[in-house]
Amino acid sequence: MKIHSVQAVDSYRPWLKDHLSHKRYNHCKRVSKQAVKIAKEFVVDEEKARLAGLLHDLAKEIHPADLYRIAIKNGIPLEAADVRHPKKLHDRVGAIIARDELGIEDEEILSAIRTHRKGGPNMSEIAMVTLLADKTERKRDKAQRRKILDSLMVGGLRQGVLTALGIKNKTSNPELIKTIIHPIVEINQEAPSKLMLA
Ligand SMILES: [Fe+2]
Repeated sequence: MKIHSVQAVDSYRPWLKDHLSHKRYNHCKRVSKQAVKIAKEFVVDEEKARLAGLLHDLAKEIHPADLYRIAIKNGIPLEAADVRHPKKLHDRVGAIIARDELGIEDEEILSAIRTHRKGGPNMSEIAMVTLLADKTERKRDKAQRRKILDSLMVGGLRQGVLTALGIKNKTSNPELIKTIIHPIVEINQEAPSKLMLA
């Protein structure tokens, strides 16, 4: 079935329920909710954020051998860590499955799924929102969550992502930062309210 409307979030729920444990599905729901909150604060497309958040871990419980097979079949470049732990492929393989099985054509949503774990070059705002929502959904470790949200509220999406990825300051590894995310102009220069993200 091909579904093109990003508004049709509910249409994807049955597929997710079939392919994820209850626990993982609930995590995806929380990420979706958190993605909408962050999107609101930074004037990013809320419906895309809602869908990207819901779908981000769609391949998380696929058998490692199948993740590996799909990655090879689709020419995904493998890192040594992927070969040792094929579960790590769930982000890139997830984007393939979203495209091929769920009919998602929106490249922002596909790239949000692809980069939600480690970031990637030229991340879109939707991709940054999704990564941040995954790391700050309400059941994540409170101290880590607070650290990332503080960074997000003070420095914006890009700084929030750098913090979430464990990059302590902007100048510590400029080469890495250049390849992880292309600098963006923050649409909303004001720090978002703590209440909205609490
Ligand atoms: Fe996740």
